[in-house]
Amino acid sequence: MMQTLNVALGERSYPIHIGCGLLADAALIAPHLKQKKAVVVTNTTVAPLYLETLTGALARSGVAAQPVVLPDGEQYKTWETLNLIFAALLGSHCERGTTLIALGGGVIGDMGGFAAACYQRGMPFIQIPTTLLSQVDSSVGGKTAINHPLGKNMIGAFYQPRLVLADLSTLDTLAERELAAGLAEVIKYGLIRDPDFFVWLENNLAALLARDKAALATAVARSCANKAEVVAADERETGERALLNLGHTFGHAIETGLGYGEWLHGEAVAAGTLIAAELSARLGWLMAGDVQRIERLFVRAGLPVQAPALGAARYLELMRHDKKVQDGQLRLVLLERIGRAVVTDAASTADIEAAIEARCRCA
Ligand code: NAD
Ligand code: GLY
Repeated sequence: MMQTLNVALGERSYPIHIGCGLLADAALIAPHLKQKKAVVVTNTTVAPLYLETLTGALARSGVAAQPVVLPDGEQYKTWETLNLIFAALLGSHCERGTTLIALGGGVIGDMGGFAAACYQRGMPFIQIPTTLLSQVDSSVGGKTAINHPLGKNMIGAFYQPRLVLADLSTLDTLAERELAAGLAEVIKYGLIRDPDFFVWLENNLAALLARDKAALATAVARSCANKAEVVAADERETGERALLNLGHTFGHAIETGLGYGEWLHGEAVAAGTLIAAELSARLGWLMAGDVQRIERLFVRAGLPVQAPALGAARYLELMRHDKKVQDGQLRLVLLERIGRAVVTDAASTADIEAAIEARCRCA
């Protein structure tokens, strides 16, 4: 059975459809296309698995879909790869009314969305996320970006899709490590604003790891419902949306510091969340038992809870590029309790360094 949520952004509102076998159902996509022409941006891993199902279904409903198959990997989330998309769009004479469909994980979604935002100053865009992480987070909310060697997701735009189609069947082919990485972002929603969901995750983690479709449907829908509420309230991240970055300031430092693609985004977020939890405990907000409870869930999910030993000074240097830095002041998302996060500059540099050292592999 398909569930449909709505991201409420006035005339830019859009549906999120969640269910099994949706890729083959062009009737869900066709009403959102302005022309009988689309471009499908995907990569060398996803194309052999799902491209034909999608383009075949579109062809049967009279839509010609041209594929653009990119190299796979976080290290390709760059200007150079973006230019490959622009070359394909120009080469096939795409117009402002042609729709760009991103078929893949968060890397494809972020890059495809940024290309759509830029091409002829904006072309319609549809997200078809095929990883757990992209179904629960990156496909919703309109953040698009590429990486810079000095900082993760530093070049980008807010640009909302017209539709998000989360086909749970695609998760069957996902590597275990990638499934776990997606769970890091799922657990995040429980930690920042949905304590009942955190408890549900504690009770249903085994079913999620076994890819039980009913459990996955609940997790994806509950995550998207949380994200849609936050995005509707604060699309441009002037306030509440920053809470979605729990663990990300440390996590982005891990990804940039190690080199893109070394740790998966979700893995870096997991280790970063444990640093944030450690710091929250040092401020007297979380109890030691809360930190252990969070750690237990991440460990059960197969996620790292110790960060790489880059050295606290290097972490702080990398974190200076964080998008939450304001007037040179670092602000962090920390936990007042499980289910309630805040953005704060309350932590001293010494506390931050101590929390990093306590959670690094060398400690
Ligand atoms: P990813 O896009 O690299 O996908 C992970 C791997 O799985 C890739 O090798 C991919 O080709 C492969 N894959 C995708 N679907 C598959 C399937 N169904 N079966 C088998 N393999 C499949 O990584 P991700 O975890 O999806 O996304 C991470 C990216 O998302 C990062 O760049 C991160 O910065 C970004 N992100 C963006 C937002 C946002 O709000 N825009 C939020 C969170 C993360
Ligand atoms: N992934 C964080 C956000 O969308 O704001």
